[in-house]
Amino acid sequence: MEISARIILALGLASLFVSSTTVAAAADAVFGYGNGPNGPQHWGSLNPQWRLCNGGGRQSPINIAKENITDRPKPETLARDYADAKATLVNNGYNIMVRYDEGVGTAFIEEKNYSLQQVHWHMPSEHTLNGERYDAELHMVHKKDNFYAVVAILYKIGHPDTFLNQLMDGLEKLAKEKCSDNQEASVPVGVIDNKSLRRSTKKYYRYEGSLTAPPCNEGVIWSILGKVREMSPAQAAALRAPLAEAYRNNSRPIQPSNGRSVWMVDEGKNKEDGPDA
Ligand SMILES: *[C@@H]1O[C@H](CO)[C@@H](O)[C@H](O)[C@H]1NC(C)=O
Ligand SMILES: *[C@@H]1O[C@H](CO)[C@@H](O)[C@H](O)[C@H]1NC(C)=O
Ligand SMILES: *[C@@H]1O[C@H](CO)[C@@H](O)[C@H](O)[C@H]1NC(C)=O
Ligand SMILES: *[C@@H]1O[C@H](CO)[C@@H](O)[C@H](O)[C@H]1NC(C)=O
Repeated sequence: MEISARIILALGLASLFVSSTTVAAAADAVFGYGNGPNGPQHWGSLNPQWRLCNGGGRQSPINIAKENITDRPKPETLARDYADAKATLVNNGYNIMVRYDEGVGTAFIEEKNYSLQQVHWHMPSEHTLNGERYDAELHMVHKKDNFYAVVAILYKIGHPDTFLNQLMDGLEKLAKEKCSDNQEASVPVGVIDNKSLRRSTKKYYRYEGSLTAPPCNEGVIWSILGKVREMSPAQAAALRAPLAEAYRNNSRPIQPSNGRSVWMVDEGKNKEDGPDA
């Protein structure tokens, strides 16, 4: 998950619609995936500001295990209110992200409105459900003051996803732009409709964890939607194509849950349980 402010220098070549800039600061170590020296086991020692990645006790992702889920005492509807908004498709080197250029909307989480900043994908999924890993995971990153709340959607390969449908041309443009570890490439994608992201959700899992990429900040409120969605094989390939080989698998391994509780809200289930007395 990208949180460091990265500077994009627009090239001003409107006909190209693609810009790319070196953003590496001398102290800006590069993290990776896999078993290499910059892999997840070593993130915490690559940069003093990333210590929590290996030293934290409430890290993400985790396995959401059925036996460890408890019903939330006081259910809260995960209300999300997003408008259609202008967006930019970004390859930051380690994932593909849609960054919103203007206020796009909020999610109501633990009695506060968090505003949506960006959404990005990981492949395969980072969270697992009862040990099952899915093909992809979308992270919708919301922020209020300095705190994050991430809404995650799991995907398996199948039918095309309507949100990704709007991004296919942009992804193709992005793939033509080479992007090395310390570069960022971006393509404006115009106004994206919010329907697929807003789609209401009856069931979700809630726990407290961290960002899944350096600096691995803790205190992040996670909401993992219970409904697994689908994207087509072509969409999955288009999401991977712009990334360098080493980042096409950009899933952080499961972190110890350390006895954290996972709550479930299932409004559908409550209805089936019978009418309120
Ligand atoms: C986007 O959201 C706004 C309200 O939040 C709604 O009025 C509008 O119809 C939505 N657009 C689409 C295409 O769903
Ligand atoms: C959150 O936002 C909704 C509209 O999107 C608003 O109705 C509500 O009052 C807000 N709640 C808080 C606690 O700010
Ligand atoms: C991708 O990462 C996952 C999770 O770390 C791992 O299980 C899988 O084997 C990796 N796949 C490839 C092709 O490297
Ligand atoms: C359930 O939680 C306990 C206590 O934290 C843990 O030891 C156990 O491994 C968890 N079960 C699964 C399947 O993750």
